[in-house]
Amino acid sequence: MASPLRLQKYLSRCGIASRRKAEEYIAQGRVKVDGKVITSMGQQITPGKQKVYFDNKEVTAEEQFIYILLNKPKGYVTTLSDPQGRPIVTSLLSGIQERVYPVGRLDLDTEGALLLTNDGDLAQSILHPSHEVTKTYEAEVKGQPASAAIQRLQKGILLEKKMTAPARIQVKRRGKKTTVMVITIHEGRKRQVKKMFQAIGHPVISLKRLAYGKLTLDGLSIGKYKILQKKDLQKIFSNKFLYKHENS
Ligand code: URA
Repeated sequence: MASPLRLQKYLSRCGIASRRKAEEYIAQGRVKVDGKVITSMGQQITPGKQKVYFDNKEVTAEEQFIYILLNKPKGYVTTLSDPQGRPIVTSLLSGIQERVYPVGRLDLDTEGALLLTNDGDLAQSILHPSHEVTKTYEAEVKGQPASAAIQRLQKGILLEKKMTAPARIQVKRRGKKTTVMVITIHEGRKRQVKKMFQAIGHPVISLKRLAYGKLTLDGLSIGKYKILQKKDLQKIFSNKFLYKHENS
């Protein structure tokens, strides 16, 4: 018999979600063990001995991991279900049998690179702050940020009582009313890019994620996806940058 492991780890091993997300599902009462809802994090599972259910569907070990890069359109939610009935990103994946879930999130009105997988360990490594996986975004912002404002973001800025890590920024295009910037960060705080630009007085008008590490959309059009290979996954963890840093 396999050795026991914590419920959240078991769910992540079976491809339900990252460990952190699995904890949320447990707290939300969506997980049952042998027919009983479990909301505490201490529950141990011995694979093969107990029956585990997520949203009333039995959880079994996935045979194979799959990694997908989607160019998410605006108007899609990155959760697996939506009480308001808005379209969900997984509805764009036709012919994928595995139960995959997004690695991290993108706002409803943000488009661009979104990874989906059933590999809980990989999802965890991408999301864990210690790995500092970079995410690059193109942001069109209101107005024309001055160099001093850009430098504030480059150095780090106070957001909700905590400094952001230094960001890498390039000004791509200055228009009369808006500016297009490329920004790379390695943290994953909720709505971080929008909050950072808001904090310097230049709200984001539209936002697109261009890359995770060096894994770019590479010609993938909006709403389309591709299945990633091992060599693509290695690019995620590359901390080389995609463009020239402002003032460097
Ligand atoms: N930062 C944001 O503000 N929104 C996103 O969707 C992603 C990063």
